[in-house]
Amino acid sequence: MKRVLSVCLAFVCSISVYAQNSGELTVPAKPDRIISRHIYGHFAEHLGRSIYGGFYVGENNTKIPNTKGVRNDVVAALKKLKIPNLRWPGGCFADTYHWKDGIGPKDQRPTIVNTWWGGVTENNSFGTHDFLNMCELLGAEPYLAGNVGSGTVQELADWVQYVNFGGVSPMSKLRRENGREEPWNVKFWGIGNEAWGCGGNMTAEYYANVYRKYATFVSDWNNTGNLFRIASGANSADYHWTEVLMKNIPQNLIEGVALHHYSVIDWQKKGPSTTFTEQQYFTTMQRALFMEELIQKHTAIMDKYDPKKKIALVVDEWGGWYEVEPGTNPGFLYQQNTMRDAMIAGATLNIFNNHSDRVRMANLAQAINVLQAVILTDEEKMILTPTYHVMEMYNVHQDAAWLPLTIKSEAYVMGSEKLPAVSGSASKDKNGLTHISLVNIDAKKEQDITISIDGAKYKNVTGRLLTSDKLQDYNSFDNPDAIKPETFKGAKLKGDNLTVKLPPFSVVVLELK
Ligand code: AHR
Repeated sequence: MKRVLSVCLAFVCSISVYAQNSGELTVPAKPDRIISRHIYGHFAEHLGRSIYGGFYVGENNTKIPNTKGVRNDVVAALKKLKIPNLRWPGGCFADTYHWKDGIGPKDQRPTIVNTWWGGVTENNSFGTHDFLNMCELLGAEPYLAGNVGSGTVQELADWVQYVNFGGVSPMSKLRRENGREEPWNVKFWGIGNEAWGCGGNMTAEYYANVYRKYATFVSDWNNTGNLFRIASGANSADYHWTEVLMKNIPQNLIEGVALHHYSVIDWQKKGPSTTFTEQQYFTTMQRALFMEELIQKHTAIMDKYDPKKKIALVVDEWGGWYEVEPGTNPGFLYQQNTMRDAMIAGATLNIFNNHSDRVRMANLAQAINVLQAVILTDEEKMILTPTYHVMEMYNVHQDAAWLPLTIKSEAYVMGSEKLPAVSGSASKDKNGLTHISLVNIDAKKEQDITISIDGAKYKNVTGRLLTSDKLQDYNSFDNPDAIKPETFKGAKLKGDNLTVKLPPFSVVVLELK
């Protein structure tokens, strides 16, 4: 309790001391902070059935409707999410990927072995053109993760020239020969991935120097002034990593520092995705809510070197990680997605929204058939998970103006341990509509909360709710709509007070006008 209190005194944050539920929403006349839509980004690695079977089924597939091999059902679903960006090709895979293997005639592309993920043979039929054209279909900005671990500076410099240069050069000539006249102008470039681990087992000091060298040759070919280079960031609470990067990398070479944090109970014993106990649920939520502390501490380090917050904290891998579904390849990381995942998503996105001055980009791991996926596929079938529905409900916050919302929450108690039951975040969109997203993680108790509103007079409140009978419920291929958003009738406006009745383990998004 002490820790939560001290943390919230220093920052405006969405959770506070355990008390009776209450909240305060401030609506400034001119809100000055935007919640970047890129906080709602996704991640597609060459891992298990993420790309092959998930996004891509091959151009000659006559069973599953597709556009140049990319599933039409997936494109429609992700467009509804307003997917802002998509990270590719990894993850750990990125530091084994040589992009030239994935261009040119498909029948002439070399095969490689996907050493990190199941040792399967990768035929490179989904490569740079396939990915970047798919991003155009999705209306999403591509985020390319460069190979630093086993690649070369020249290889990355060539990739940037290949995809971004509009003039005449060896790489733009090659691109044109492969059928693409105009450059794609990719803005987001990751300089390696998990350089402390699968990306090369480097020390922070060594990687900072490697980063400087690679970033120097990631050229802004068309002088767009738009290039956004992201350094491979810390593993959860490795604050030394962030400190060294911020200290040793000149600020003209970097636009973002990454952070990876997974909600995993125990790396040796992750627990099942659907048949978990309440204790396992509670521990998962402890790990998820730890994101608040992580962001505060990494931000405090970044603030020392970059007080104007020019460099973004990019949480480019986050989400729940459990044991794979029984009978599936352990290297494919395929897991089901329950109301527990909806709780992780709702609570985490509230944290990101509330730290949107520094957290300006994030990527849920991962989009399809891997870890905390928003979409699961089985041949021609596709289902949307509870996490998908949270992402869809929350997309009202994308590029909206952040509004300070403070919440004092009752405790969700498990034995001698406590977590704040309720969290929230709020924003005002371009049409003047205010949205408040609230999450009650308590597995058993409904939470009543009264939020006092300062600075605006609202006449009307409507809402949407995501919940289910059991925390362990999920959408299956036999029952794909078991969990989906419904109309919420539990919010009332009385003058400047908004009262809300939040069912146990529920996500609510309110609209006020
Ligand atoms: O998302 C799965 C893996 O988790 C990624 O490849 C890696 O970056 C992280 O360890």
